[in-house]
Amino acid sequence: MSAINHQVRLAARPLGLPTSSDWSMTEELVPTPGAGEFVVAISYLSLDPAMRGWMNAGASYIEPVEVGDVMRAGAVGRIVASEHPGFAVGEHVYGAFGAQEYALSDGVGIFKVDPALAPLPTYLGTLGMTGMTAYFGLFDTGKMQEGDIVVVSGAAGAVGMAVGQMAKIKGAERVIGIAGGEEKCRWLIDELGFDAAIDYKRENVAAALRDAAPKGIDVYFDNVGGEILDAALTRLARGARIVICGAVSQYNSTEGVKGPANYLALLVARASMTGMVVFDYAARYPQAMAEIAGWMREGRLISREHIVDGGVSAFPETLLKLFNGENLGKLVLRVGED
Ligand SMILES: NC(=O)c1ccc[n+]([C@@H]2O[C@H](COP(=O)([O-])OP(=O)(O)OC[C@H]3O[C@@H](n4cnc5c(N)ncnc54)[C@H](OP(=O)(O)O)[C@@H]3O)[C@@H](O)[C@H]2O)c1
Repeated sequence: MSAINHQVRLAARPLGLPTSSDWSMTEELVPTPGAGEFVVAISYLSLDPAMRGWMNAGASYIEPVEVGDVMRAGAVGRIVASEHPGFAVGEHVYGAFGAQEYALSDGVGIFKVDPALAPLPTYLGTLGMTGMTAYFGLFDTGKMQEGDIVVVSGAAGAVGMAVGQMAKIKGAERVIGIAGGEEKCRWLIDELGFDAAIDYKRENVAAALRDAAPKGIDVYFDNVGGEILDAALTRLARGARIVICGAVSQYNSTEGVKGPANYLALLVARASMTGMVVFDYAARYPQAMAEIAGWMREGRLISREHIVDGGVSAFPETLLKLFNGENLGKLVLRVGED
């Protein structure tokens, strides 16, 4: 192949919000697969708040992206050349293909996806990593039970929208979402069936939680950390479980992560706060995907993707949408054809 592969590379480690000088745009020839390899033309890239952490030096639950490397990104695409016996030209696949137009793969860690069953972007969201995160975070880490009062922050985002709907499906007594802005809060109640929504940009979250969850919170699924986590800690029911899924309010802090001041509420409520990493559940993804796909087919779970056009060069500015709350649902970037 002699086509060009446009790529986005990490040029510098950001301080605070990433800026254009933290990225470089490069071009290479589209690779040719060797024996046991195939080439994917990427259709959609996943944009994830965790990317901000991968840009920092120092190991976390995953190695950092090195300066000069193609930015790590989950993606779905179509195989356009193959020398791999298990992957044929024309098949669609999901993998960590990176922020580029074409990727070379040996098939390790790659899942086949079927665009006849769901649109490709859904495999980056509710039928992909964020859906898995919601499912295992809520039911495994959060041990959600029928009759629970469930609160989720970042509720109108990719993970949050799935958490709230899954909690309703499994019989939560009340599901309360916390999100930024009236439009998002209305969407949670009118379209997704949440029982209540709190606009953290306008309301006092602790006071609003007192009104919305007078009996206290059984499961708090935390996507944002910071002050909202602190507010939720003041409203725990006895034996509450807090799922530490992420802390998007802290990822761009230049002053270090602000921890919860109200953590002694855990003692009073005999509660627990547990971190989760979705990759730990990889062996159980197929089971979760099948159950989630069933709920979607029955119309009980809605998936929404926020698709940005603009090609791979729009990656840097699109990433910022996650940190200023411009996305409703799962944020994806269209890079090529389906
Ligand atoms: N542990 C794991 O394995 C795992 C896996 C995937 C994702 N995660 C985590 O799950 C969380 C959600 O990820 P996602 O992909 O679903 O992203 P998302 O919720 O679709 O997008 C991020 C949202 O965060 C909200 N936000 C941004 N800055 C905020 C702030 N300062 N305070 C409060 N809210 C803020 C914005 O919504 P508003 O308009 O409502 O502010 C924005 O839309 C992230 O923390 C992510 O790191 C963890």
